[in-house]
Amino acid sequence: MTGPDDVLRPHAEQRFAGELAALAAADDRPRPPGWRLSPWAVSRYLLGCTLGDGTAVTPKYIGARRIVEVAVATLATDRALLLLGVPGTAKTWLSEHLAAAVSGDSTLLVQGTAGTTEEAVRYGWNYARLLADGPSREALVPSPIMTAMAEGRPARVEELTRLPPEVQDGLITVLSEKTMPVPELGVEVQARPGFTVIATANDRDRGVNEPSSALRRRFNTVVLPLPATAEEEVDIVTRRVADMGHSLRLPEVPAGLEEIRRVVTVFRELRQGATEDGRAAVASPSGTLSTAEAVSVLTHGLAMAAHFGDGVLRPSDVAAGVHGAVVQDPAADGVVWREYLETVARNRPGWRDFYAACREAAG
Ligand SMILES: Nc1ncnc2c1ncn2[C@@H]1O[C@H](COP(=O)(O)OP(=O)(O)OP(=O)(O)O)[C@@H](O)[C@H]1O
Ligand SMILES: [Mg+2]
Repeated sequence: MTGPDDVLRPHAEQRFAGELAALAAADDRPRPPGWRLSPWAVSRYLLGCTLGDGTAVTPKYIGARRIVEVAVATLATDRALLLLGVPGTAKTWLSEHLAAAVSGDSTLLVQGTAGTTEEAVRYGWNYARLLADGPSREALVPSPIMTAMAEGRPARVEELTRLPPEVQDGLITVLSEKTMPVPELGVEVQARPGFTVIATANDRDRGVNEPSSALRRRFNTVVLPLPATAEEEVDIVTRRVADMGHSLRLPEVPAGLEEIRRVVTVFRELRQGATEDGRAAVASPSGTLSTAEAVSVLTHGLAMAAHFGDGVLRPSDVAAGVHGAVVQDPAADGVVWREYLETVARNRPGWRDFYAACREAAG
């Protein structure tokens, strides 16, 4: 058996097993059938709290409490949950933690791509067995959805809108009838209580494979917003960077709050097309510059500082990462970035080193 420390990225239920067990022990509220925790305890797991016995439950999702409550409550109904939002708004992250808290298993996952086939939502066959013995239960290879139905757990569907329409249609039957017939064996798998689907979809994919209204009706949609304020985004990035540094076992580097604040400010200003004080308009580059990308840039900066720098996160450690995130299209984005540096960064008090490092990285 591998423990959570032996793998690069343990599942949420492995990583936070201690928190989940403490919550289960402290949880005296009613649990929906098939759930390991009450909806209240699931929301505590996601939002963070301190339990009566002193266990600190770390916040997983940082944002409006209401969003988490609506999402959790949806899972306790017969509707599936669709998490919708622009890239990097923690749709996948929230989906994993929701599944982990509700059932202790976040691994029943269908990844939506243009090449995803119906077998991924229904079932397939082990062809060696099928040829040897004909159709039998042993030859059947259940999809994660089928397993979730049989075991009464949530299944996750990533990037719902990238699934081809006929595969999406397969989900309609599952969600409305809560059963999956296997005509080859003359049987059906009826969903047990606790079964539901948590899907994510990216706003930017709108129009790719727009779900039919029949499918949409089976989902409650919860829109995950971008962080409302710079402070909130700095908070998210600080926590996630510390967390990433820890799981990658990077040598300790002091948090570097200044650098985090600067990167978050640059990303927000370029994203919203105006400076934070609203005084000046700036052009937006083609990339998304999401919170998730800010986390990556700063984690990379930490690695630079730890291995090649002086052990403190400095502008020169993050400049190349910022440049890479902003300038996705060398021609158009290069112009946007240089203009931002000259008109905004250059004259901002306290940004002299950052400006110089970015100029250097821009070559
Ligand atoms: N509000 C938030 N609270 C906590 N973490 C957040 C928040 N917003 C973003 N993150 C962090 O951003 C990272 C990326 O999130 P995730 O991959 O879930 O995004 P996504 O919405 O699924 O993006 P995509 O559309 O690209 O799939 C995660 O590490 C997550 O911790
Ligand atoms: Mg995602």
